[in-house]
Formats: sequence, structure tokens, C-alpha cells
Amino acid sequence: MTKKHKNQLRALVLALTVVGALLWHFDKLGSANLRFQTYALFSEQNISAAELSKVIALHEECFENDRRKNLFNYYLEVQHPHSDESFRKYLRERVETIIQEGRLQKKSIFRRKENVTLLRKGSELIGLFSCAPEQRISHGSSMIYDVCLASKMRGKGLGQQLMEQAIRQCQEVGKDLTLMVYKDNTPAIALYKKLNFSLVPMPGEAGDDFEYFNKYFMVFQPRQK
Ligand SMILES: CC(C)(COP(=O)(O)OP(=O)(O)OC[C@H]1O[C@@H](n2cnc3c(N)ncnc32)[C@H](O)[C@@H]1OP(=O)(O)O)[C@@H](O)C(=O)NCCC(=O)NCCS
Repeated sequence: MTKKHKNQLRALVLALTVVGALLWHFDKLGSANLRFQTYALFSEQNISAAELSKVIALHEECFENDRRKNLFNYYLEVQHPHSDESFRKYLRERVETIIQEGRLQKKSIFRRKENVTLLRKGSELIGLFSCAPEQRISHGSSMIYDVCLASKMRGKGLGQQLMEQAIRQCQEVGKDLTLMVYKDNTPAIALYKKLNFSLVPMPGEAGDDFEYFNKYFMVFQPRQK
């Protein structure tokens, strides 16, 4: 390699380093542009139709496939454990109908509409979560639901920021802070463990309901100061 080529290579490496540093810097600046907005009661009355469809689309992006998969497995494992192939086909169709009906009736949005928080980056909706009291399995804990970050934004620390906000907002003095997560949701479980949620056995009160099927129950253990 000639001296001229070496210099060109050095200049190229330098240029790439500068570009990389700038991209990193702008990404960090971007995270300063985050905005949380909480709705005490989330409904068509206090959000525009356009925003509502964005929220529904985001919610579907985060949860619809998991719901489809788990609903099918629930029918198969809990309700009809000895089904043959043709019944399985019927179950698959039934699940799809439920999913599509949920979409039409906008039910795929939250089952709990209290204290819904949306996360925006600039004007773009990129995440959400909600908090609600839970009675059946935890006797009044404050539960975090629907933690969701747009797929294109994942892997950059934003999910952690979303959860840190959820912890701040959902925590209530004298009450446990809890959540549930599908047992195969490795990224979410890792995030919750990182933020000091511990896996605890699912209380017996959960029974055989779909709402608790294939889920872990987790409780926040604040770090001792
Ligand atoms: C769970 C979710 C919010 C994580 O968001 P994210 O922005 O990708 O996460 P972050 O980049 O902030 O990562 C924070 C931590 O989460 C964990 N994590 C994130 N992605 C992971 C992956 N693919 N595999 C394993 N751990 C992962 C890691 O512990 C990570 O910390 P680290 O970077 O120090 O290793 C996001 O994946 C999501 O919205 N998923 C779909 C909806 C969902 O499943 N919600 C949970 C319902 S209970």
C-alpha cells in the first residue's frame, strides 16, 4: 500500500468515526425529546380519532400476535386438551374470529382504561403503559399493564425509560407494585428483572382464566438505600 493510500484510509476511518459520533449524539439528543402524557381515563372523548387509531395500531403491534398465540394454546391446553387435528383447525379459526372482532370493536385496545400513559418522541407516538389496581391475585396491588414500545424504537434503552416512568407513576405508598408477563417474553422479563422486579409464584386465585394463562407474576422490590 502506498503512502497516499494509507493517508486515504486514515481519512476514511476518521470520517467514519466522526459520523458515528454524530449519529450517537443525535440519538441521545432524540431521547431528550421524549414526552409522557397521562390520561386518567382514556376514551374517545379526550383523544382525537386520528390519535386513537395510532394508539390502537401500536397496541396491536405489541400484543396482537402474543394474544393470538396464547389464546390458541389456552384453548388447546386448558379447555380442549384432547382435540384432534380438525378441532384444532376449528380452534385456530375461532381465535382468528375473536382477534378480528376485537379489532372491529376496538376492544384490542386496553381492557383497563385508567391511567393510560402515552410516550411520544417529538410528535410521534412510540410507547405506552397503564396502571390499575389489581384485586384478584394480589389484594390491591398497583399493577402495570400494557408496557409497549414501537418495534422500530426497541433496543436503544427507551423501553427501560418507559418502565422507569411506569414505576414512578404506578407506585403507591403502602402497596405492592406488580405486573404480569408471558413466560416466553424473554426481553420483557430481562427488563423487569433489571429494574428489580422478582418472579413470584402465581397466586392460586388466578385459577384457570385466560387472563393469567402462561404468565409470570412479578413484584417490584425497591433497592434498600
Ligand atoms: C419489552 C420492551 C418494552 C423492551 O423495550 P426496549 O426498548 O427494546 O428495551 P431497552 O433497549 O430499554 O433494554 C432494556 C433492557 O431490557 C432487556 N432487553 C431488551 N431487549 C432484549 C432482548 N431482545 N433480549 C434480552 N433482553 C432484552 C435487557 O435487560 C436490556 O438491558 P441491557 O441493554 O442493559 O441488556 C419492548 O421489547 C416491547 O415493547 N415489546 C413488545 C411488548 C411487550 O412484550 N411488552 C411487555 C408486556 S409484559
